[in-house]
Amino acid sequence: MKRENWGSKLGVILAVAGSAVGLGNFLRFPVQAVKNGGGAFIIPYFISLFLLGIPLMWIEWTIGRFGGGFGHGTAPGIFQSLWRKNRFIKYFGVIGIFGPIVIFIYYTYIESWLLAYTFFPLRSDFSQISTKDQMLAFLQGYQGVVKNEYFSSILTAYLFFIITFGLNLLIVYFGIKRGIERVCKVAMPALFIFALILVIRVLTLKNETNPDWSPLNGLGFLWNPTFSSLKDANVWLAASGQIFFTLSVGIGVILTYASYLSKDDDVLLSGLTSASTNEFAEVILGGSIVIPAAFVFFGPSGIREIAQQGSFNLSFVTMPLILKSLPLGKIFEILWFFLLFLAGLTSSISLAQPAIAFLEDEFNLSKKKSVFIFGIVCFILSNLSVLFLSKGVVDELDFWGGTFALVVFATIETILFSWIFGMEKAWEEMHSGSDIKLPKIYKFIIKYITPLFLICILLFWTIQYAIPTFLLKNVILENLPFILMTRIILVIIFIALCILVKISWRKKGEKFEN
Ligand code: ALA
Repeated sequence: MKRENWGSKLGVILAVAGSAVGLGNFLRFPVQAVKNGGGAFIIPYFISLFLLGIPLMWIEWTIGRFGGGFGHGTAPGIFQSLWRKNRFIKYFGVIGIFGPIVIFIYYTYIESWLLAYTFFPLRSDFSQISTKDQMLAFLQGYQGVVKNEYFSSILTAYLFFIITFGLNLLIVYFGIKRGIERVCKVAMPALFIFALILVIRVLTLKNETNPDWSPLNGLGFLWNPTFSSLKDANVWLAASGQIFFTLSVGIGVILTYASYLSKDDDVLLSGLTSASTNEFAEVILGGSIVIPAAFVFFGPSGIREIAQQGSFNLSFVTMPLILKSLPLGKIFEILWFFLLFLAGLTSSISLAQPAIAFLEDEFNLSKKKSVFIFGIVCFILSNLSVLFLSKGVVDELDFWGGTFALVVFATIETILFSWIFGMEKAWEEMHSGSDIKLPKIYKFIIKYITPLFLICILLFWTIQYAIPTFLLKNVILENLPFILMTRIILVIIFIALCILVKISWRKKGEKFEN
């Protein structure tokens, strides 16, 4: 079966940037920066970007294009084509399908809240909300955590979830060029325009009662460095974690997108362009909306408390309260939520694609059948997030699928590429068809520094977070059955994917090992 192709260079860059620019840019980044040393955070952040994020971006673009040349769009086949003699390497590649599925089953649910909230400013009870407590009650009512005057059941949330989920499937069903590329070509410019409008609005805010609570001082609050924080290993972990999350590297999605490139398409400049687009959206736009806005309204002490309460509160409670108090507030509220919805949508379609590509490439299934199977399985699994959100299930999925799997996967792909495939061949493969030539130092970085950095992070994370999480250290007793159930399901998904890999290779006569 002939594999699909991207329609244009701009299309694939926007699609990869679409995958990267997400809720992480507008919410997660500013909160992480405030919590981890303000302007000092940017030091480990940029070090991680140059030693980890950009090299991984290049590696994923390169190995994706390489595997695509052999008809493989997902990590099991891509890894196997990089290391033909090893029969087991393809099972490590399963992480690159497992991670995106696990993230997809909670990410689309959160994305559906954003779609719903795009419409809520038109509801009169939502418009009348004027306090944090009311806003929180509205959110919890919507999520079905409590029944209140705003919502008597989870039905509205479920309905919006079905619409969002269906929309994702529809886009991937239309394919790489007619679905994903077409949506990203419209959504990405729109997203940038909406974000710019919001940045300008925020930076022109004034607080008449407290003139010191200005947007400029808000930016100062975000960017003034606390250098002592650099001595804390957790700050470094947070910075590298943010780089993974925001660039969508280590997940498995970029290699799938890159597998639809042709052999002589450029990967280096395109990878760099998509990473730079993401960084502009994160540091410049993402850094100039929520924190300065919250600073103008709540001042230096209020903002600390808000940042501690995390991203969800910031987006669904604090921001709408701020925006609705402005002239034409409804319009800004709609812009805010629609911006986040578009950012989420262009990321979630990239999460759906690996599993679909796996079914198409390795089982020769049609697009229709692949999307259907993926849709049914993920819809059933998503109910975990929808129904048991308050039981800590989403956090559990996020930890294993959205955090731990990424570091493990990135470590494996880097070592495989630079050591097993070999750095000389790797360097040549990266430069084939390339519009730029990388400085030689990157040969050294990709071979030694990136893997070493990754191994250090992996060790730290395992000790600091994975072991305590594995031993259920922070789980409240009431949530225990739900967390255990989630873990059992995750193990089943992983084993099922390994079995599928086994079946598909057996069917094809293990041709890549000969
Ligand atoms: N890269 C995506 C984000 O930043 C997942 O939200």
